[in-house]
Amino acid sequence: MIFDSHAHYDDAAFDEDREELLNGLVDAGVGTVVNVGASLEGVRRTVELTEAYPFVYGAAGVHPDEVGALNEENFQWLKDQCRREKIVAVGEIGLDYYWDKEDRSMQKEWFVRQLHMAEELKLPVIIHSREAAADTLEILKRERDPGCPAVMHCYSYSPEMAKEYLKMGFYLGIGGVLTFKNGKKLKETVAEAPMERLLLETDCPYLAPVPYRGKRNDSGKLMLVAEELGRIKGISAQEVIRITEENARRFFRLRQEEER
Ligand code: NI
Repeated sequence: MIFDSHAHYDDAAFDEDREELLNGLVDAGVGTVVNVGASLEGVRRTVELTEAYPFVYGAAGVHPDEVGALNEENFQWLKDQCRREKIVAVGEIGLDYYWDKEDRSMQKEWFVRQLHMAEELKLPVIIHSREAAADTLEILKRERDPGCPAVMHCYSYSPEMAKEYLKMGFYLGIGGVLTFKNGKKLKETVAEAPMERLLLETDCPYLAPVPYRGKRNDSGKLMLVAEELGRIKGISAQEVIRITEENARRFFRLRQEEER
């Protein structure tokens, strides 16, 4: 079944019908969701979602746009949340020079501290990097424990840069952008990347695939991404779903089937 490795069901965009939507995901072929808390409040709500839905797991971390809210006290709280059984990754963490909401030196500092926290807790990391390719790569090369699995969420850089990350053992998060007309760079990246290193992700409510581009996204729409990925790789959508689910279970260290 579809494994959505990156969703934000804590987002206000789902306030009106969250329960109905989540309960309907199984019928849309979705087996597992990792909800990514990207702010302190997002982490709190992610923990609630993991408690309410057996098929929802969580990632806890503070997005580069939100690191201004971090201090020693709430960083300790964040670490405590990461020790919960259903929190399976640290993220999303990284650098965002597109929005540049927080000072870059502060973004870097909290990125590094959260990377080290993941290493200490032996959790995989979900990396957010936007228009910050060089600094992200430099920090990851210098600070990341090579034993700590990592995924580049919503991979948006060049196919050449992807090779660097793949060499370092990274996974690539692939979502709706793959279906966009201007998604050529990503199609090239995916064509060259080994199938075993790809994870399906929505980043919902954002980045809905064509023909829903611009509308609210949800995990059920990953079928359209799987179909496009299958076309590029010359395999069926079902095969894409099977392999990416296996990949995600390996990445997040979840056992097969049992949790459902
Ligand atoms: Ni995200």
